[in-house]
Amino acid sequence: MAGLKQTSISLLLLAGAAVAIPAPLLTEESIFFRVPDSISTESVYNVHVSYGNTLPQGDVRVVYGDCASTHAGQNHHEVASFVSGSGTTPDRLVWAVPKDAAHGGCLHAYSGPTLVGRSEPVSVSGPPLRKRASLLHEVGDSNGLWFDGVRYLESCNQSSTVSTKAKRKRIAIIGGGMSGLLTSLLLTSVGIDDWHIIESTERVGGRIRTKYLNGTSPEDYQYQEMGPMRFPVSIKYADTNETLDIQDHKMVFQLADVLNEMNTKDHPELAVNFIPWIQSSPNTPANSRGARLSSGRIPSSAEIAADPSLQNPPIKASNVTAAELGSEAVEHLLDITPERLRNISTNVFKAHREAIDKGLFHWSETAYLKYHLGLDTDTVDFLSGSGNDPMWGEWYDTVYFSATNWRTIDKGLNSLPKAFAPHIEGKITYGRKVEGLTYNDKDNTVFVNWREDEFDIKPKYDKYDYAIVAVPFSKVRLWRMPEYSSLLSRAISTLEYQQSCKVALHYETRFWEAQENPIFGGCGSVDIPGIGSICYPAYEINSTGPGVILASYASGTMARSLAALSEKDHVALVQRAMVEVHGEVAAEQFTGSYERQCWEVDEHQAGAWASPTVGQQELFIPAYHRTEFNTIFVGEHTSITHAWIFSALESAVRGTTQLLLDLGLVDEAKQIVDTWMARWITI
Ligand SMILES: *[C@@H]1O[C@H](CO)[C@@H](O)[C@H](O)[C@H]1NC(C)=O
Ligand SMILES: *[C@@H]1O[C@H](CO)[C@@H](O)[C@H](O)[C@H]1NC(C)=O
Ligand SMILES: *[C@@H]1O[C@H](CO)[C@@H](O)[C@H](O)[C@H]1NC(C)=O
Ligand SMILES: *[C@@H]1O[C@H](CO)[C@@H](O)[C@H](O)[C@H]1NC(C)=O
Ligand SMILES: *[C@@H]1O[C@H](CO)[C@@H](O)[C@H](O)[C@H]1NC(C)=O
Ligand SMILES: *[C@@H]1O[C@H](CO)[C@@H](O)[C@H](O)[C@H]1NC(C)=O
Repeated sequence: MAGLKQTSISLLLLAGAAVAIPAPLLTEESIFFRVPDSISTESVYNVHVSYGNTLPQGDVRVVYGDCASTHAGQNHHEVASFVSGSGTTPDRLVWAVPKDAAHGGCLHAYSGPTLVGRSEPVSVSGPPLRKRASLLHEVGDSNGLWFDGVRYLESCNQSSTVSTKAKRKRIAIIGGGMSGLLTSLLLTSVGIDDWHIIESTERVGGRIRTKYLNGTSPEDYQYQEMGPMRFPVSIKYADTNETLDIQDHKMVFQLADVLNEMNTKDHPELAVNFIPWIQSSPNTPANSRGARLSSGRIPSSAEIAADPSLQNPPIKASNVTAAELGSEAVEHLLDITPERLRNISTNVFKAHREAIDKGLFHWSETAYLKYHLGLDTDTVDFLSGSGNDPMWGEWYDTVYFSATNWRTIDKGLNSLPKAFAPHIEGKITYGRKVEGLTYNDKDNTVFVNWREDEFDIKPKYDKYDYAIVAVPFSKVRLWRMPEYSSLLSRAISTLEYQQSCKVALHYETRFWEAQENPIFGGCGSVDIPGIGSICYPAYEINSTGPGVILASYASGTMARSLAALSEKDHVALVQRAMVEVHGEVAAEQFTGSYERQCWEVDEHQAGAWASPTVGQQELFIPAYHRTEFNTIFVGEHTSITHAWIFSALESAVRGTTQLLLDLGLVDEAKQIVDTWMARWITI
């Protein structure tokens, strides 16, 4: 916070600042204000308060108004009131500056009728320029751009004073995935140290899940990502030839920079290094719609590009006119032009607002085609199937998958959560499965409940001031919780999640790099039921020794059926597909080592990612932006995108900001938003 002024009544009186009427006799200066240098209307600030030798006793009112005013009644608005002298005197006030606050007034403190403190005249300007504001909590609205801190404070009717104890609150962080981990780091960064992470597994990282096959270590480079695997960096635009960064995922790179800086001296081995990711490459297998080469193998993208007859023709629409009409209408509504892509990639929050205004949350593509355009069911099915997710997802997914430059993390994404290790040591409990929260209104605390033994009738508990729940709703919906609002309860119990399954297979060598048409990284996809995408390692190209293929990555309904297969049947299905893609060599070189992950049946996740149906996101987001019973929910499911790590990190920034505002720590909330938003958001 720049330039705070400390001032006192006597100085003010000496300065003679428009004091027309003699001020009431002050036996002693007793309250001093430190007000930020410049104040904007419709914004929130901390005003720091200090005290003279004699503390005022009893009720103190702090008001803003004409500097010449002499009694509490003559004010423009009240800023705060508190009881002084009982050891509860605040060290800051939370000043929500109203729209019509005049320039050049003073803050006054009155103890009964007696004026016991007055600030220097305060410089007040109009509301912050929304356009160039980097403080996102000052620009948003809760269902549009972002969490709106100002409106939040206005609506939650909390005390406007802050004591020195605010930073000593005990915070439970439930869940050691990326949102929980970042929350711990953010709290520490503003001097809140009494937090504890409660994690149900024996590791941190949540859905970041690098698997090192055949018992190898990261240095052996025999791994695949069973969770997120890469980050889109930038897009080269064909219309202008310029390359622009995708701003959102930059937050992951910022986090890595921060962790690397923290670890560089004592833990250089924990450095997080990014390496290029290869998203597509010519010789990866392609979806040939059932056609096979004369050898019986699946053709590659390059082969099909050279000879389109290697791919069976697509199924034709039963009514070509209707199909054309439908796809043009969808294209028109989505309006994904290069300019649109640039705007979304520059500021995903602003794009979210535009998507709401454009109605992209009102419709799934299917409903739009059927109920808005009135197309026949055959055409609707032909164009879009029967999905029920809002069209908003098209916007950000199109941006991410238009990326021409991608990154991944050397030795696996696990390196990112691992880099937190020194900073959470002694402040995390592993293997504790939380199963509910209890709110105690007597002392405004929260019990975090778990059972030592599954059959114990009475749960164990620990007491905290706040709980930050960084656990997917797919798990939380089984918990016993306080009586949250209907909206929040419904979000917890009904928010949709996707299923996805991945299988990684271990081979004696990286034979795919030695084939006649070698594959150097990249993902392809095939028509074999249940396989979906196949990705080849982007790291250590041309190295000798064993290698690992992400041999199947399927999601949605198909993945539910895969998850129901026995492990052996599932792995065998995928290995047979590898033979169909690569020939006998894949059979000869399979070592028998594999990893299989189906997220919906993962005990600790019960879902791959949140996938709100039409109506859910628009309805539920405002509920996440309110603290109920001292509980704050974070995690990718509470974000405006469901874009893996970025969404988790963004939610942690929002949740931490929300907590800090709940505690009246406006300076710290601004610090967090400035540090973690300004760098990657440009407006
Ligand atoms: C705000 O607090 C006041 C005083 O405690 C109370 O009378 C009022 O009902 C509260 N308003 C809301 C919206 O909670
Ligand atoms: C983009 O680059 C290509 C190849 O260098 C060139 O042919 C084209 O004219 C350029 N387009 C623009 C808009 O500059
Ligand atoms: C094909 O669709 C168009 C547009 O909906 C409609 O006008 C036309 O009658 C349809 N043709 C047939 C043969 O159903
Ligand atoms: C892109 O953003 C610019 C600047 O805010 C705006 O003028 C323009 O209308 C936007 N275009 C689209 C297609 O959203
Ligand atoms: C897999 O691990 C075992 C035990 O370390 C080792 O003997 C074997 O050679 C490994 N297989 C491959 C293909 O590296
Ligand atoms: C891998 O080896 C091939 C063939 O020797 C070569 O063309 C290619 O450039 C190499 N790639 C890398 C990344 O080393």
